Amino acid sequence: MYNSKITGLGYYVPENIVTNNDLKEFMETSDEWIQERTGIKERRWIDPKSDDTTAVMGAKASKIAIERAGLTKDDIDFIVFATLSPDMYFPGGGVQVQDLLEMPTIGALDVRNQCSGFIYAMSVADQFIKTGMYKNILVIGAEYHSGGLDKSTRGRNVSVIFGDGAGAAVLSRSEEAGKGILSTHLHSEGKHAKELILEGPSTKHWVPEILEANNPDDVSYYPYMNGQFVFKHAITRFSEAIVEGLTANKLEKEDIDMLIPHQANLRISQFVQRKFRLPDDKVFNNIQKYGNTTAASVIIALTEAWEEGKIKDNDLVVLAAFGSGFTWGSVIIRW
Ligand code: ACO
Repeated sequence: MYNSKITGLGYYVPENIVTNNDLKEFMETSDEWIQERTGIKERRWIDPKSDDTTAVMGAKASKIAIERAGLTKDDIDFIVFATLSPDMYFPGGGVQVQDLLEMPTIGALDVRNQCSGFIYAMSVADQFIKTGMYKNILVIGAEYHSGGLDKSTRGRNVSVIFGDGAGAAVLSRSEEAGKGILSTHLHSEGKHAKELILEGPSTKHWVPEILEANNPDDVSYYPYMNGQFVFKHAITRFSEAIVEGLTANKLEKEDIDMLIPHQANLRISQFVQRKFRLPDDKVFNNIQKYGNTTAASVIIALTEAWEEGKIKDNDLVVLAAFGSGFTWGSVIIRW
């Protein structure tokens, strides 16, 4: 049994900043409404004229992470790519990154799992490292939401929340006992799938059916969220995932040095912070700048926290996420 450790981190967000006031161009909303309910001030939305896509952003973040790990693309043994917004129905984003970075013919696996995608991806990578199968795995979370949102007033409760971006980590085999990823914890409850969903295009709603219907009032091709229902479940499951991770490692909430919650909504993060009585310097949030980037949010936040010197050697770092599925989980790391 080997240990696994994060050896490189990187993120990339598109240049194009969209403020809350900018959204008023498309919908009836206000900076005050959005900030009060979500904490979001602005988000990055890909300029459709740019070359950025989910996979391209994932590759840009990966390049940085690989370099910071002191490795080259040829040292990576495997790719795990988490997204809910792949460039294509198939193939997935992992193989695109393999191609974009001109990597050897290593395996590439795509993970769905929405806002919990990066947590699931880290857990998968951790197992491959711990069993000794691979030495260095590239783990990516990337999302391009802005192209698929209902930006009219009809879709405003969802579309103001989501942003575009990508982050990547290199997870490597390590000889340091008691350091690196201590444990990962994964859960799902599919009976709530309809509360946070994007129905089509899919095998239930094939493209010919969509084209034939040609019904601009059909909202099943836009993401749907039952906001208050999601909020209630998120605060419960976030907390459970953190407690589960601490308990598995015989740790207490006072042992947490840095909590990186999925950036769903600042109010959710603040609720969890209060519940665990964590001071402000032990919880990292950047939803104010980037909105909710689903599978990319935890890894972008982790990278920024690390870049800002907020994570130090030997710190106990807790990653936690909750999202569509419902799915949720945590990763417990001794840095
Ligand atoms: N601007 C202005 N008014 C708005 C907007 C907007 N962007 N969106 C909704 N409204 C209006 C509605 O039309 C409604 O008006 P009405 O009372 O006249 O009908 C009113 O505000 C309340 O609408 P709700 O949809 O009930 O809004 P709510 O108070 O629930 O807030 C929100 C919505 C912010 C999404 C909230 O439910 C929430 O925080 N949910 C948590 C879910 C979440 O954070 N999800 C993130 C993605 S999922 C994930 O990552 C886990």
